[in-house]
Amino acid sequence: MNLLFIGDVVGKGGREAVRMLVPELRREFNVSFVIVNAENSAAGSGLTAGCLRDLGAAADVYTAGDHVWDQKMFEQEIVHCDNVLRPANLSKLQPGRGFGVFRNPLGGSVAVIVLQGKGFMRESAYCPFETVENILRELPAPVKTIIVDFHAEATSEKIAMGYFLDGKVTAVFGTHTHVPTADARVLPGGTAYLTDVGMVGGVESVLGREVGPVLQKFRTGMPGRLPVVEENIRLDGVIVSYDQHTGRATAVKNFSRIWNSAERNG
Ligand SMILES: [Fe+2]
Ligand SMILES: [Fe+2]
Repeated sequence: MNLLFIGDVVGKGGREAVRMLVPELRREFNVSFVIVNAENSAAGSGLTAGCLRDLGAAADVYTAGDHVWDQKMFEQEIVHCDNVLRPANLSKLQPGRGFGVFRNPLGGSVAVIVLQGKGFMRESAYCPFETVENILRELPAPVKTIIVDFHAEATSEKIAMGYFLDGKVTAVFGTHTHVPTADARVLPGGTAYLTDVGMVGGVESVLGREVGPVLQKFRTGMPGRLPVVEENIRLDGVIVSYDQHTGRATAVKNFSRIWNSAERNG
């Protein structure tokens, strides 16, 4: 079985790239299940039910991260979105859920777990290690395919999580930094690992936002609007191949694709 995971989608251009490229990627890599981190899909900050409608059936599951509540209405909307997950290690008082078991259209099921890191993150979260241990105890035994989206800043925390879950889950994929890393590999116990998948955002950008305003903000320290780049989009993803009976990964590889709506349409 092959599964595709795509990094943080930024804004309208990112959503368009996902909508247009994912059907091709499904065919090319013979993928039966797609997970997309959509935490920046609403104008760069958070997500909305409307953005999820726009992304449509591109992914089987959408994940979110530290920006999950940036859009005011989403705390009401998330409870109606069956295939959307927020970090699991947040207060139980928060709406939504942090893991789920989903049907794989080619047979069997896929468990998806989202965790937020503690190092250098804006908001407090419970210990992601303890949280994931408890979730793994809760998952029904027949569910062998388990994918973890570890939304975190610190590479050390992410690598540590990879080793912590090695042999217990199919893959640990990092998100949040928007920069793809070059360390995709299958760990000794059979878990696919990648420190960061990257993003779906502008090639000429700072993490998906226009270079000029970001540079201005760094230089002056003044607040200001940071518009999202909507054209010339780089889609970063990772493909994991795995044995659905054991849940162990056999291969993992990340890649990037460029999307230009003008070129395709003209
Ligand atoms: Fe992000
Ligand atoms: Fe994030």
